[in-house]
Amino acid sequence: MEVLRVENIVKNFGRVEVLRGIDFSLQKGQVLSIIGSSGSGKTTLLRCLNFLETPQKGRIIVEGKTLFDAEDRQKMSDAAIRLNRLHFGLVFQQFNLFPQYTVKRNITLAEELLAKEKIKKEGSYNGHTTVRDALAAIDQKADRLLEEVGLTVKADSYPCQLSGGQQQRVAIARALAMEPDILCFDEPTSALDPELTGEVLRVIRELKDTGRTMIIVTHEIGFARDVSDTVMFMDGGVIAEMGPPEQVIENPQNPRTREFLSRFTER
Ligand SMILES: Nc1ncnc2c1ncn2[C@@H]1O[C@H](COP(=O)(O)OP(=O)(O)O)[C@@H](O)[C@H]1O
Ligand SMILES: [Mg+2]
Repeated sequence: MEVLRVENIVKNFGRVEVLRGIDFSLQKGQVLSIIGSSGSGKTTLLRCLNFLETPQKGRIIVEGKTLFDAEDRQKMSDAAIRLNRLHFGLVFQQFNLFPQYTVKRNITLAEELLAKEKIKKEGSYNGHTTVRDALAAIDQKADRLLEEVGLTVKADSYPCQLSGGQQQRVAIARALAMEPDILCFDEPTSALDPELTGEVLRVIRELKDTGRTMIIVTHEIGFARDVSDTVMFMDGGVIAEMGPPEQVIENPQNPRTREFLSRFTER
């Protein structure tokens, strides 16, 4: 089943064309890796998908529902944008945890706010009609997620007490808490010391095994080859090459892809 369809996304910053017509689709449970040089537009594409940037052209369709259409002249309300965002989870390079809250609170906070708002406005959240029941369920989910990322013992610690790899695993649990249709990663291991990248990549690999749909911007070419169903090579704001990893990474057709990949093998 198609979860995501992206049509002709164009994004300019002033006169600079950063995305010049991006089209792709993603099936449920599939992993798409995006590779490409710095400045090729990878982060901007993820930010457009997460409604942190507004494209000048194009459409974003999730599970058949058009969430964004640049042709639609009506300005999207903040409430609509917030609802749209729930379809996507985003894990940043720099973790971006709330330093003042415990690990567990980092995971539960956003969903607690959502549950309270829903119960107030609509009378229920996920089948719970009282805030107390909803919060109990959210707390239990956080315990499950902490177990999934292997950090049960750190539930009451603060981010500053964790290693970078542990912080990133909390950030992944936090993104999963909102049950997004698509989980996006922007260079999830780039800020980590080499000895800590393995534990984060392992968690992402396990998420694939449990059927999560993911888009991963990464410079870990070996990881992208192993974990991806599709690899996209971006160059200058366009998709220069896209296909299964055996093609794009092992046997690239585009000279730009070959040139980019050669930088990794020379090391
Ligand atoms: N907010 C912004 N304002 C102006 N230019 C931007 C902004 N964000 C990104 N850019 C430019 O867009 C291009 C692509 O950036 P980015 O999406 O971060 O690339 P990547 O993640 O592939 O390194 C770069 O030239 C960058 O300078
Ligand atoms: Mg980037």
